[in-house]
Amino acid sequence: MKDIVNLSQNRGFVYQWSEIYGWLANSWDYGPYGSLLKENIKNLWLKEFVQKRTDNMLIDCSLIMNPKVWEASGHVGGFADPLTDCRECNTRHRADKLVDNLLETTDAVAPANYAGDKTDSAELDQILVDLKVECPSCKKSSFTPIKKFNLMLKTFLGVTDDSASQAYLRPETAQGQFVDFANVARSSRRKLPFGIAQVGKSFRNEITPGNFIFRTREFEQMEIEYFVTPGEDDAAFAHWKAESLRFFTDIVGLKEENLRFSPIQKEELPHYSKEAWDYDYKYPFGWGEIETLANRTDYDLSAHMEASKQNLSYFDAVNNKKFLPYVIEPAMGLGRIVLAALCDAYTVDEENNRTYLKLDPKVAPIKVWVLPVVKKIGHLAKEVYAQLSEDFVCEYDEVSTIGKRYARMDEIGVPFCISIDSTNYDEGNVTVRFRDSMKQEVVALTELNDFIRKHLK
Ligand code: GAP
Repeated sequence: MKDIVNLSQNRGFVYQWSEIYGWLANSWDYGPYGSLLKENIKNLWLKEFVQKRTDNMLIDCSLIMNPKVWEASGHVGGFADPLTDCRECNTRHRADKLVDNLLETTDAVAPANYAGDKTDSAELDQILVDLKVECPSCKKSSFTPIKKFNLMLKTFLGVTDDSASQAYLRPETAQGQFVDFANVARSSRRKLPFGIAQVGKSFRNEITPGNFIFRTREFEQMEIEYFVTPGEDDAAFAHWKAESLRFFTDIVGLKEENLRFSPIQKEELPHYSKEAWDYDYKYPFGWGEIETLANRTDYDLSAHMEASKQNLSYFDAVNNKKFLPYVIEPAMGLGRIVLAALCDAYTVDEENNRTYLKLDPKVAPIKVWVLPVVKKIGHLAKEVYAQLSEDFVCEYDEVSTIGKRYARMDEIGVPFCISIDSTNYDEGNVTVRFRDSMKQEVVALTELNDFIRKHLK
């Protein structure tokens, strides 16, 4: 993990946030290549799940919604983590994560009353004692009584900062799709099943952010609320299970052996879901969730219908019936997929004494790197750059030796490198170097863009 963090910072994928002011712990900025990698994954998600489908539509809701939305959805009352402090070293922990870690790494057995972050606080206090859970920092076993800590990030609207003007930054993109459901159904004239997709920032006042960009307080989600007739929800769940896996493996290019799909136990289910499974990725620090696929039933629509007193039901003209649709929700974390792509791609090639990112060309931030063999033919190489950059995100580099430039390109995961020398160029050719095989091929300038396009698929 340390190597991946170092490469990310040195090569411009991810930087520490506000670094010149001494950084705020566990906050990160995406640099030039990280931003492009993230945008590529986001655009591929939009292409697969919105552009290529006839049943899904995209919306873009406000980050700050009416606070009543979050009261109705149950987030203000129930979206809380169990917090405890180590009495010896004052480190703050999520008590359920301490127990989960112990259960995963030892033979300890979960007590019958253990329900993850939903466990009653007094019972969880006792479980920490009974299982002799240790503080990961100082290895002592003495914790303060658990306090429930709400994850909603508060803000204030208008000129006063009293409770009347208090609002929240959204903790998930999802409620926007429910609040706008009737508008979308009416204006798009869609028939069930259909999905409403949203990509954007969400905010959670996480107690223990960490593991690089894995758990942050500000992050991007890609979520679809897929509305179906009740009774058709199990089939839709199976459909989105397969579609999510296809996205992770065929589109983002993650190795299937680094993914697992596991059920969330009934007692640990979020307050809104009947059934939920997680897609986890095998990060260097252990398995971590990248998507939750949930059957949210009609929980959200009925909660908003009751709180707003507006009719959110759907009219099925064929069967002449009014009802609240059920919702299947594939909810992915964009930053976590970026991190998975970096971990999956990180390759140490001992034979050739190099480290490179074997990113799928579809997600690679820079597709083509253009370099003149010697600086004095830079003007020719810039013509090649101009030709290629019409179609692809390229970069131009004439500084330092060819070997050093290849090494940099490999660490950024650029799939193709075009070198230009005057003899080849005079004959109308350039040399293409492939990142993974390091093989080189002479290609005619007139065919270069098509050649790259063919190999990007
Ligand atoms: N609308 C449902 C929902 O938000 P979730 O499991 O809480 O479900 C969905 O979040 C995904 O968002 C997670 O699987 C994860 O990939 C991402 N996510 C959640 N909290 C995060 C955090 N603090 N930092 C980064 N990503 C996060």
